[in-house]
Amino acid sequence: MTVPIDYAERIPNNVGLAGDRRLQRALEGWQPKFLDWWRELGPALPTKDVYLRTAIAVGRDGWAHFAHVPMEQYRWGIFLAERDPDRAIAFGRHKGEPAWQQVPGEHRAVLQRLIVIQGDTEPASVEQQRILGRTAPSLYDLRNLFQVNVEEGRHLWAMVYLLHAFFGREGREEAEQLLHRHSGDHDSPRILGAFNEQTTDWLQFFMFTYFTDRDGKYQLGTLKESGFDPLARTCEFMLKEEAHHMFVGTTGVQRIVERTARLMAEHDTEDVLGYGGIPLPIIQRYLNFQFSVSLDLFGSEQSTNAGTYYSAGVKGRWQETRRDDDHVLIGAERTMTVVEDGKLVGKSVPLLNALNLDLRDEYVADCARGVKRWNQVLADAGLPQRLHLPHEGFHRKVGAYAGHHLAPDGRILDAAAWQTRSRDWLPTPEDRAAVASLMLPEYEPGRFAAWIAPPRAGINDRPVEFDYVHLAEEGIG
Ligand SMILES: [Fe+2]
Ligand SMILES: [Fe+2]
Repeated sequence: MTVPIDYAERIPNNVGLAGDRRLQRALEGWQPKFLDWWRELGPALPTKDVYLRTAIAVGRDGWAHFAHVPMEQYRWGIFLAERDPDRAIAFGRHKGEPAWQQVPGEHRAVLQRLIVIQGDTEPASVEQQRILGRTAPSLYDLRNLFQVNVEEGRHLWAMVYLLHAFFGREGREEAEQLLHRHSGDHDSPRILGAFNEQTTDWLQFFMFTYFTDRDGKYQLGTLKESGFDPLARTCEFMLKEEAHHMFVGTTGVQRIVERTARLMAEHDTEDVLGYGGIPLPIIQRYLNFQFSVSLDLFGSEQSTNAGTYYSAGVKGRWQETRRDDDHVLIGAERTMTVVEDGKLVGKSVPLLNALNLDLRDEYVADCARGVKRWNQVLADAGLPQRLHLPHEGFHRKVGAYAGHHLAPDGRILDAAAWQTRSRDWLPTPEDRAAVASLMLPEYEPGRFAAWIAPPRAGINDRPVEFDYVHLAEEGIG
């Protein structure tokens, strides 16, 4: 059974908001502040309307509706996946007990913190991507950018709902702070590092949706297992929307590589910049950067907090219920890599303290799948070049590799060697300028900027040349 969502309400929801006047009033008080934030820090390009997907039900099929809507009238709402009345906690010391419908006092602070950290990333990415519309390579891509943006806005709503509904006055204050911190702000930055980096151009946007949204997918995957049922259900539904964000990243990079590969084959050179394409070495450097900052988001490999959250039943592992072990993990071990005397060595550590690493390993394996797809494009074009995921220790600021200098192939370098070589591995100001020089907007339906191939198909069975976005008059030229 799927629960339909009532769009007659000011805040569309499937959480019975109409039956809880206090909560409804509190959220209706937050709504204008959200809209102010959206106007001030949401997409900068003025549009009349955009062909957007809106969730209409949370069930397995037919959950979304597509239509041209003015973006500020998008119906941000609060949607939780269906409740399973028999759901039990799947791990930790509460394993087998019924999932919590209220926040247990002993886990209150931790749950609130996890929700705030997750919530903070959602508006951050909208802020980071604010100016990209001005250089969109097509209306198709522009629409996808805005779809990602409105859904990140909705994910903020989901987290704010949890804070308001379950965490009292402190929760309401945290909800205010989520609109107060801003990406890259000197005094009041976003909580996590990667969310304070600017998204300077579309190559970085696609790398961001590929690598950093994917980090989000894995974090949500652990919260989806939470013993706190409203959080689990919120994350489950968010994951559904996130799938499209990663599609945007995977196919975006793939289309760039496609274009680059064609130019390389045609002109028999790697230096395709003069032909309007993005050279493969620049794509590789952007990839190296976004992958490494995204790995930092997983935190230290060894973390007693992660073990504590797990044992408490607050945060599980990726696909917890499919794991073939006791789901308690006391006494279990695994190996991790550390740098010792200038060498990489494996050491055995308690699994319970290495759950961040467990999650990161799942993530890295997933990241590798897209790279394989991109390399298929190069192979199909008859080219010997390949893209690579750098070593997990490359360019790291958090965890066991922080303070060491590793090359993308995992060799350990001294500081001087790193100084001279790192510009071969990370985007240089010249790379960014070169990419920026290609970022000219293409707002004609069905036309694409020269540096990216068109997609195979449009959105929701619409043709590629569909008028996905209508710009406001002042948005043109
Ligand atoms: Fe999100
Ligand atoms: Fe996302």
